[in-house]
Amino acid sequence: MAALKAINKIDGVPENLDVDFIKKWISSKVSERRFKHIEGVATTAKQLAARAGCSVKLAELAGWLHDCCKEVKDKELISLATNFGLQLHPVEKINGHLLHGPVGACICREELGLTNTEVLGAIAEHTLGAVNMTTLSKVVFLADCIEPGRNADYTRPIWQALNGDTDSHFVAGNNDKVIDIDMGILVSCEAGLTDLLKSGRLIHPKTVDVRNYYLQVIQSRAQVVS
Ligand SMILES: [Fe+2]
Ligand SMILES: [Fe+2]
Repeated sequence: MAALKAINKIDGVPENLDVDFIKKWISSKVSERRFKHIEGVATTAKQLAARAGCSVKLAELAGWLHDCCKEVKDKELISLATNFGLQLHPVEKINGHLLHGPVGACICREELGLTNTEVLGAIAEHTLGAVNMTTLSKVVFLADCIEPGRNADYTRPIWQALNGDTDSHFVAGNNDKVIDIDMGILVSCEAGLTDLLKSGRLIHPKTVDVRNYYLQVIQSRAQVVS
């Protein structure tokens, strides 16, 4: 955890934002169970970042902060989002919990003084994803899907897409492992869509846009190879 303390010199990250402070701040906002999930996301985000070639420190920071508003009630999220001037999609007005990412980013800016746009973007985009995400956003989106607390049946296909083999974990120290982050995102979008269809819940059009975008990324890649 000492590594996170070095984050202080990064643009848009206040000097007091070390891991002890963040842990205390997060634990005042979420249950113990959620805290464990968040810890899993921060650890997985670090492992992914090391292999995807983006900042491990920022990935850990975004991992720790991504669900800071996860336990805020839907009605309050809608009201906070409106007060922060966010544009709400009709599906978000019905399913306020979808706003915990964007509102979480605003809260981090307001309460922590965090202005690093990459980290704020990764927090905001972690639930629905976005087309053309930064590598940091992709890392946090995926870490949220595959952290060790998630159901193994759900995560196995995503790990396989990422790793290209049957490993459902990263081998410690093997930071040179080549991972297919776009394929991982495509498979996790499709797993999310399947779940939504099975449970008869509303689908945010952005989820479909993101799935289509990454499908095209993979298809265009295949065409270049063939
Ligand atoms: Fe979340
Ligand atoms: Fe999460």
